[in-house]
Amino acid sequence: MNYTSIKDIDNLDQWVQQAIKIKKKPLKNKKLGKNKTLGMLFFNPSLRTRLSTQKAALNLGMNVMVMNFGSEGWTLEYEDGAIMNSGSSEHIKEAAAVVSQYCDIIAVRAFAGLQDKEKDNAETVMAGFLKYATVPIVNMEGATGHPLQALADAITIAEYKTKARPKVVLTWAPHPKALPQAVANSFVEMMQLQDAEFVITHPKGYELNPEITKDSHIEYDQDKAFENADFIYAKNWSNYNEYGQITNSDPNWTVTAEKMKLTNNAKFMHCLPVRRNVIVTDEVLDGPNSVVIEQANNRTYSAQLVLQKILKK
Ligand code: CP
Repeated sequence: MNYTSIKDIDNLDQWVQQAIKIKKKPLKNKKLGKNKTLGMLFFNPSLRTRLSTQKAALNLGMNVMVMNFGSEGWTLEYEDGAIMNSGSSEHIKEAAAVVSQYCDIIAVRAFAGLQDKEKDNAETVMAGFLKYATVPIVNMEGATGHPLQALADAITIAEYKTKARPKVVLTWAPHPKALPQAVANSFVEMMQLQDAEFVITHPKGYELNPEITKDSHIEYDQDKAFENADFIYAKNWSNYNEYGQITNSDPNWTVTAEKMKLTNNAKFMHCLPVRRNVIVTDEVLDGPNSVVIEQANNRTYSAQLVLQKILKK
């Protein structure tokens, strides 16, 4: 069993309930991971993913090895048949096979480069590990998805919702740096498995991959989208059509207390890290309806559920 996409979730409601159960007794399966090793390979920085996934593995009694590939590992080649006479020192074929000998599960973080849409959509790094590793792979944020984050988001919504079918709004917000679409993509895919009124709001031109959004409701008027919302999930992503570009930095899209007044006393969500007073104002982020810290807490239980399921297989 791998966990590289929301598509690997066979029953979201069941997974969320199982994660909430783990949260109540996180050390119940402390023996499950005895003498098993989780290898965590980071090609990009992290705070939450690194620590929550490590904590999840420790709660299951696993050993953990962490490697920051970007600064510590050899530069990897991913192309079959490549003549490796320039930059790359090691092929993914050997790297993935070798790491598989040391680890029982390999978790990988490898962001989109945002230069080459086709290459990012092919998930070169994640696909390389899936192809050449001989142990299960967990996606700690790839080029196009962040399924551990989306599972934590689903747990958070389940914990805070006050009605069976809440209105959940994913809103684009400005950011000074070009960011990948991964978090938004997985959130959209996860919401498609939920009973909810789901609305995506962003400036015209910032449409996500239509193969992911499918027939999701897109509302270009942010104020209209916010009306009666029960959850506001803010996230920036760079332009998918003009790939990786920042074509809008309109501060009117920042989530403010004024905008939150349009909602049904909505909870505010963000995956973190968040740029204060750019994505969202201090007033909202520090206010009583912000659930971002608990959302980050749920990263441990989303990772623990996934590791537990893999170990049990
Ligand atoms: N939300 C999230 O993945 O945080 P990190 O980038 O800090 O891991």
